[in-house]
Amino acid sequence: MSERILSFEKLHTVIYPSSKDGAQYIASAIADLIRKRQGEKKKAVLGLATGSSPTDVYKELVKMHKEEGLSFHNVVTFNLDEYFPMKPESVQSYVRFMKENLFDHVDINWSNVNIPDGTIDVAEVQSYCQSYEQLIEEAGGIDIQLLGIGRSGHIGFNEPGSNDRTLTRLVTLERITRLDASQAFGGEQNVPRRAITMGVNTIMKSKLVFLMAWGNGKAEIIKQMLEGPVTDSVPASFLQNHPNTKVIVDQPAAEKLTRFNEPWLVQSCVWDDHLVKKAVVWLCRQTKKPILKLTDKDYNEYGLNELITERGPAYLINIHVFNMLQHTITGWPGGKPHADDSQRPERAEPASKRVIVFSPHPDDDVISMGATFMRLVDQGHDVHVAYQVSGNIAVADDEALRFAEFAKDYMGEEAADTFKEIEQFIHEKEEGDMDMPELRKIKAIIRRGEAKAASRYCGVKPQNVHFLDLPFYETGRVQKSPLSDADVNIIVDLIREVKPHQIYAAGDLADPHGTHRVCLDAIFAALEILKNETYMQDCWVWLYRGAWHEWDISEIEMAVPVSPEELLKKRFAIFKHQSQKDGVVFQGSDSREFWQRAEDRNRDTACQYDQLGMAEYEAMEAFVRWKF
Ligand code: F6R
Repeated sequence: MSERILSFEKLHTVIYPSSKDGAQYIASAIADLIRKRQGEKKKAVLGLATGSSPTDVYKELVKMHKEEGLSFHNVVTFNLDEYFPMKPESVQSYVRFMKENLFDHVDINWSNVNIPDGTIDVAEVQSYCQSYEQLIEEAGGIDIQLLGIGRSGHIGFNEPGSNDRTLTRLVTLERITRLDASQAFGGEQNVPRRAITMGVNTIMKSKLVFLMAWGNGKAEIIKQMLEGPVTDSVPASFLQNHPNTKVIVDQPAAEKLTRFNEPWLVQSCVWDDHLVKKAVVWLCRQTKKPILKLTDKDYNEYGLNELITERGPAYLINIHVFNMLQHTITGWPGGKPHADDSQRPERAEPASKRVIVFSPHPDDDVISMGATFMRLVDQGHDVHVAYQVSGNIAVADDEALRFAEFAKDYMGEEAADTFKEIEQFIHEKEEGDMDMPELRKIKAIIRRGEAKAASRYCGVKPQNVHFLDLPFYETGRVQKSPLSDADVNIIVDLIREVKPHQIYAAGDLADPHGTHRVCLDAIFAALEILKNETYMQDCWVWLYRGAWHEWDISEIEMAVPVSPEELLKKRFAIFKHQSQKDGVVFQGSDSREFWQRAEDRNRDTACQYDQLGMAEYEAMEAFVRWKF
């Protein structure tokens, strides 16, 4: 944890190594208030949020209730918002969310719980909202307000344009907010367009505010709210005018803050190679120059005088960074056999390596590292691929029905009844309903078949293709179970069996609760268990990024060039995942197809290397080495 020391941030910011640590801190502060008020025989008034950000806080509070006897009998709560219209019993309702995550597990008096009502008549909304404000006032105002932040910069559902005089009211949701909610609703089209939300002014009246953000998906908006001006285009920035707000973030959510991204602008630095590389890449972007054309004047004009003084002149720094970057490029991701490897990212020996490519979903391997995957096979390594989860919930119903019908037509009577049941289930299925087991099975088989086809296309031996079906994923819902020993042991067993020299894993830290992150945590937990086994001393772990982001150029430790032909082959491998093509169940905020995103991203990496003065490639896949 590090307090604000030298930074551009305009609010008190506390950075924790993980979201769990941050959540624990907030939960303890809430528990302290509840207990203090109990001592004074008074009520504690909490403003509560929903979404992924506060779930660990609620988990901690439930734990404190169960293990330490923390009572909620004196707690009054006001939730920030609710979709409109919304039935309280709907899977996506915030009433249901609050019950499942907190209220059903503690001794709160239900009459002390206030959540905006998504069922009232539109004509009555205005007076309802006024009464919500009045209730807060009558309760003595909010003591602690919990907030998440949307990627639009919203707090509550106060979207850009909401000013600091706004009170509880009916609002229209931004597209980005609806896209972020589309997973939970099974598609953007099902997300309500409106919501009832407390206003910015309502929030500003709270005595203490905790705003939480976890994961690097929030890094950009956290930078804007903390370092940018107070503006209604980032409603969270109004908190800069609140006298008692604490921003609690984990490291990935803080990564774009100036103190981390451009630390030389705020303080004196220890200039190790990593920081020198980061600063030089940044300077090239600022000046739009390649590395070898940077001058002492450039360094001085952009605040890098200290670097020039310590490691200069520019000529020496330039050459050093140029060589460092040059040495990350290799067409031999498994190492170049019998070659001098002192300046290469991978070891030359053993010439033929055992490799495991872990793919969280059945298509991440080809999307994120398809060209490297094919090179590893072509260069004679013993490549295994392990698909961590079944990916069944991402298959559309009509796609599943098509396959069910195929099975019925092929098998005749034998499959007719099951087909009928599936057909009827889909026909009657309501938004948010969990799929019947047979339908989930068909969806899993579809994805399995696609992964088999893609790995076959990449040249992997059938016996080297592993479907792990990690149990944490198999809830049939977007919300997954927590990682358990059962998940980790499956990975431990595979690593023990293969004894790999190289492991590739999706190093996706964007969403702390997302499947990629859980899959990565499962691998890290397995490596922790195995770290003392002899073969592990010889195992290198390379992280690729999932579909959404790429490593920053200054972080990349291995960049594998991709020729135009290889890029096309990679595209065809991605095409094997037919159920994820032409509009997918979980599109997210990017309307491009996966192959387009992959190509754009790989071309962009190559272009950035080119702009820094390296050779010009068609595309590049990038990796960072994870060290034990
Ligand atoms: C939820 C709410 C929203 C969320 C925000 C972040 O009650 O009011 O402002 O806090 O959209 O959502 P998550 O935490 O899911 O990223």
